[in-house]
Amino acid sequence: MIAGNWKMNGLVGSATPELQELVKRAGDHPDPKCDILICPPATLLYEMVSLAEGSAVKIGGQNCHANESGAHTGDISAEMLKDAGAEYCIVGHSERRADHGESNAVVKAKAEAALRAGLIAIVCVGETLVEREGDKTLDVISDQVRNSLPGGATASNTVIAYEPVWAIGTGKTPTPENVADVHAHIRKELGSMMGDSDSVRVLYGGSVKGSNAAELMAVENVDGALVGGASLKAVDFWPIVSTCI
Ligand code: PGA
Repeated sequence: MIAGNWKMNGLVGSATPELQELVKRAGDHPDPKCDILICPPATLLYEMVSLAEGSAVKIGGQNCHANESGAHTGDISAEMLKDAGAEYCIVGHSERRADHGESNAVVKAKAEAALRAGLIAIVCVGETLVEREGDKTLDVISDQVRNSLPGGATASNTVIAYEPVWAIGTGKTPTPENVADVHAHIRKELGSMMGDSDSVRVLYGGSVKGSNAAELMAVENVDGALVGGASLKAVDFWPIVSTCI
């Protein structure tokens, strides 16, 4: 899977031609070997779902509330995302964990809400620079994987994204060896939690771009990418998609 996270970027006028271009390029590959996903801001969901309809490009949300409905001003439920045509929802992105104080328990509740609504949850995990330098990476990842994954997670309803916080938006990436170590560790953790763990897609995210995608996607246990900045323009995103399509 190659997933694009547009974060808080895009207006109808600027996003429309980018998604149209992506849909057009995807159309040249009638039988893609990977899922292609764009997670636009919620304001664009309905519009992007309409534009992507009938194509290989799927649409997802970037966050959801744990509850189905209620007095939660400004929040959006997983059911609302589903109603707008989303098929996936990212939960526990490090920007949500940091900016909104989302704990593993909160992330887990959101992931469970996504499953309840019939969405596929993309659960993000990743260490900070301080944690990496303190040699805590694998402990942090274990804690996040064990405590943020939804109950009832399977390979068909849950995707993991390993995103080292220090690699997001910085242009820095871990070495392929570092990525391999963490992904193998995640795979091992999944093995102790669920039956079909070998089939769970574990994405890498953090400064993925056209020039490094092939190397990162070739790493063992890497089943795709979660892409921020380089997903905003179809011309930048397409070379990443091309590594797997
Ligand atoms: P980036 O963001 O590709 O801009 O580093 C990745 C992410 O936050 O998912």
